[in-house]
Amino acid sequence: MSAKLIDGKKISEFFRAEYKLRVDRLVANGTRPGLAVIIVGSDPASQVYVRNKARACEAIGMHSEVHALPGEISQSGLTAFVDSLNANAAIHGILVQLPLPEHIDDRAVIEAIAPGKDVDGFHYANMGALVIDESRFPPCTPYGVMKMLEYEGIDIEGKHVVIVGRSNIVGKPQAMLMLKAGATVTVCHSKTRDLARFTRDADILVAAVGKARMIGGDMIKPGAVVIDVGINRLADGKLAGDVDFESAVKVASAITPVPGGVGPMTITMLLGNTLRAAEHVAGIVASKKETMLA
Ligand code: GUN
Repeated sequence: MSAKLIDGKKISEFFRAEYKLRVDRLVANGTRPGLAVIIVGSDPASQVYVRNKARACEAIGMHSEVHALPGEISQSGLTAFVDSLNANAAIHGILVQLPLPEHIDDRAVIEAIAPGKDVDGFHYANMGALVIDESRFPPCTPYGVMKMLEYEGIDIEGKHVVIVGRSNIVGKPQAMLMLKAGATVTVCHSKTRDLARFTRDADILVAAVGKARMIGGDMIKPGAVVIDVGINRLADGKLAGDVDFESAVKVASAITPVPGGVGPMTITMLLGNTLRAAEHVAGIVASKKETMLA
């Protein structure tokens, strides 16, 4: 048996086409959605991610601006910069690319973003809303995972979802979104004893640990759905997920590849969150159908 491949590029195209129509409608009403991305310092991987985000905005007609700030910028200099974007009416979404340099307090910078422009969904106000079930900006990667499952018609209600990883960016918000969808959720992490005992019980397994190929086919229940959030650079320069694809694809019923799985969906959901922020400012409520797709 070989698992069905869940094609994140194809699913992204579907959503981006829908978003483009909504951008066109907003532009016709006098509002062009705008995203500002701040990158501090010169981390090469972050530079690639930021460039991809800006390109994706432009491809659907949104305004984007990238602000590359020097790695030596002070905490107060950075929060003042965020404040200037908070006050800029052409900007509906603000994203500060993480990680930030050591001397900067990430949390203080995230809290400086106006919650209504926090399209990453990392501000306490948005994280809190996520827990209570009312978030306008679900964090992009876990939200992308939910949309992939929805697109594929994979039921979540009543399923045992096992998430490996407890980060603020993926693991924790993923758990909240899965709970909302009616799953029974287990969150495993680096201190979990006998990880395989849990992963083998998963109907849907979400791997978000950041360790190349650490989840093998022998740790997966036959027929499970496997979502690989990991993007790890190998010594030979190739990319690998957290799941050992070759062995997992023989056991799972459906699986996301790396690259081409969750990665494109993260950027797509960023576009969706920015669009939603702009629609909110413009007083437009997306139709129910659009909201479900959004
Ligand atoms: N670095 C890695 N993933 C992310 C993300 O989703 N948002 C931001 N701002 N930085 C990141």
